[in-house]
Amino acid sequence: MDNKFKKIIKKKNKSKIVCLTAYSKNIATILDKHCDIILVGDSLGSVLYNYNTTRKVNLNTMIEHSRSVRLGVKKSLMVVDMPYKTYRNTKEALKYAKQIIFKTKCDAIKLEGGKKIINIVKHLVKNKISVMGHIGLLPQSETGKFSFKGKKLAERNKIFKDAKLLESAGVFSLVLECVEQNLAKHITNSIKVPTIGIGASFNCDGQVLVTDDLIGLNPINVRFIKKYSNIRKVINKAVLNFKREVKKNKFPTKKYSY
Ligand code: KIV
Repeated sequence: MDNKFKKIIKKKNKSKIVCLTAYSKNIATILDKHCDIILVGDSLGSVLYNYNTTRKVNLNTMIEHSRSVRLGVKKSLMVVDMPYKTYRNTKEALKYAKQIIFKTKCDAIKLEGGKKIINIVKHLVKNKISVMGHIGLLPQSETGKFSFKGKKLAERNKIFKDAKLLESAGVFSLVLECVEQNLAKHITNSIKVPTIGIGASFNCDGQVLVTDDLIGLNPINVRFIKKYSNIRKVINKAVLNFKREVKKNKFPTKKYSY
């Protein structure tokens, strides 16, 4: 296993793993200084394209955004989401995973699901593809209103079993999305690979958020999203000042002209 992955796995029980999403170069350049993992998530479907489901995100869109992100990522581990319907069987999954890695030069890919995709994960790992798992809330499989996972015992048991299966299938880390906090703790304490939580409490080995949400660019309000900035305000002010100066013929001055 590559050193980059060993470094991430070694952080378990020692230091928290920082992961954020990026969809393009300039943001990726900023994140790269601070993150262990940068994820090109298919959340870009709702964040950038206003899709009501990540199912509408296609392979080409993921590849183009990832190529842009790659330009800004120098030190972090870069993970790309495999879009819906690109891993329905082992043959298809390997073909598209190879294509994503070849075209984007990412380090790993992420798949959503547990038991259902275990043979696919095993096949990818056997073929030297590094895989990040993703269980709990699965946006590619669910439509309608999202709610947290692990309310009922049967659901808790299923999520726990999925975590153990994915660990033995060889994932190098596991995203827990909207998983009830005690279940997240139980999973984190029961597997050797790091868990990365989103809406799954501080009991995970690391945290991931959608960058556009945490900087306040994406106007969304969900319980697990903390807004660390209101970047819309900053942009609004800059654009307003530009507009005022253009209207008053104050921009461009000599300094900005040839
Ligand atoms: O698509 C995405 O951005 C994700 C993260 C939220 C984990 O899968």
